[in-house]
Amino acid sequence: MGKRMYLNAFDMNCVVHQSPGLWTLPGDRADTYKDLDYWVELAKLLEQGRFDGLFLADVLGIYDVYQNDKTACIREAAQVPVNDPVLLISAMAYATQHLGFGVTSSTTYEHPYSFARKMSTLDHLTKGRVAWNIVTSYLDSAAKNLGLDEQLKHHERYESAEEYMEVCYKLWEGSWEDDAVVKDRAKRQFTDPDKVHEIRHYGKYYRVPGIHLSEPSAQRTPVLYQAGASSTGRAFAARHAECTFISFSNTEITARYVRQLREQVQLQGRDPKGVKVFSLYTPIVAPTGEEARQKFDYFSSHVSYEGALALLSGWTGIDFSAYDPEQAVEYIETNAVKSVMEGFTVANPSKRWTIREIITLVGIGGLGPVAVGSPEEVADLMQAWMEETGVDGFNIAYATTPGTFKDFVELVVPILQERGVLKREYEDGTYREKLFGSGARLANPHPAAGYRKIREGQANG
Ligand SMILES: Cc1cc2nc3c(=O)[nH]c(=O)nc-3n(C[C@H](O)[C@H](O)[C@H](O)COP(=O)(O)O)c2cc1C
Repeated sequence: MGKRMYLNAFDMNCVVHQSPGLWTLPGDRADTYKDLDYWVELAKLLEQGRFDGLFLADVLGIYDVYQNDKTACIREAAQVPVNDPVLLISAMAYATQHLGFGVTSSTTYEHPYSFARKMSTLDHLTKGRVAWNIVTSYLDSAAKNLGLDEQLKHHERYESAEEYMEVCYKLWEGSWEDDAVVKDRAKRQFTDPDKVHEIRHYGKYYRVPGIHLSEPSAQRTPVLYQAGASSTGRAFAARHAECTFISFSNTEITARYVRQLREQVQLQGRDPKGVKVFSLYTPIVAPTGEEARQKFDYFSSHVSYEGALALLSGWTGIDFSAYDPEQAVEYIETNAVKSVMEGFTVANPSKRWTIREIITLVGIGGLGPVAVGSPEEVADLMQAWMEETGVDGFNIAYATTPGTFKDFVELVVPILQERGVLKREYEDGTYREKLFGSGARLANPHPAAGYRKIREGQANG
């Protein structure tokens, strides 16, 4: 029996997420992203498929790097219009029992005080099924609309993210004692004020002197995902992440990332096997391999390469309209997602990628691999990817939605369950308990646990 496989569906509150142009296909319902029906039906479908979670990406800017202009991303709906992902979760949680919900939020823009309350609220409403995908962002357009002249330098985004985590941990773990809420109607006391503590945080980026606004939720700290695979990103993940999300296109780079991450996690005194790594992955499946390959060809003929260039230019911070498509890509220092450029150059010197090859890859499923085949063939490919790379699971992206997810749940999930690598029933408990079999709360040696001291009246940090 193979290694257990963990599955998230990867989506975004917009029309075009990872497969530009395919919203035009009959049957694709990405354009109904504004309707709760789309999201509630998707959540129910994923729970039927025993997925662990629904992982929602998000950006706060637009992809106006390509041609140094916003026209292409707007025309192609390349991640704009984009609605707030947080507002989808309570409706989906109300319609499901076990599915976890991972939401992306940037440490560079939203203030940790209000963000901490938002996540505690979601953890209450979902009864402990919420996760946070920690990102530092990469679009200059976001910075310009959120009070900055340009986005912070890559290293400074991670430096401020460190303090951001500290503030959040102090609020989630350190401010309210477990038994602070007494609800004593006779004594007319809801909360014991002696058991709620100010966090008195005075740092380089944030001043947060007071108490957390929310009473303790089931997980207190949401399950912590992280996306950002540069060396700085990996080091950040080794300190904070319970799960990481990566989007490398081949097994060699993915295996190296996993190995290096686990080594760094161990150096942080944490269990290297304790962090779960999810690869971006797009399955194109049909009852027969031949039908699946025809489906892939059909999709490929509808991909928008303008849309792909707009996404790639945004991810890398490089305007690829200025380059000859047949030209091999060289490493260029960037202030956006460093790991994307590294993935196509220095991290993979044996392969010289041309721009045309990269946007052909990006056209379906973004930067990650695409598996095309019969249910058995796709199951084989996914298990082989896990064996060769050491990842724990996949963030399944869609070519068309809900089609890709429907085909996967109906055709591949039964095979994976038959092979014993995918659960037939959910475990009980919070998202963290389901993923790790541990308690609902983060435990030592995770740094968050260290902030519980505040509650015991000791000085913080
Ligand atoms: C697989 C993957 C997914 C990401 N998803 C998002 C996202 O949804 N929203 C976002 O603002 N940033 C996202 N990022 C980028 C992060 O903001 C990241 O902190 C930043 O770009 C630096 O990445 P780097 O460490 O790889 O250079 C993602 C990065 C990766 C590798």
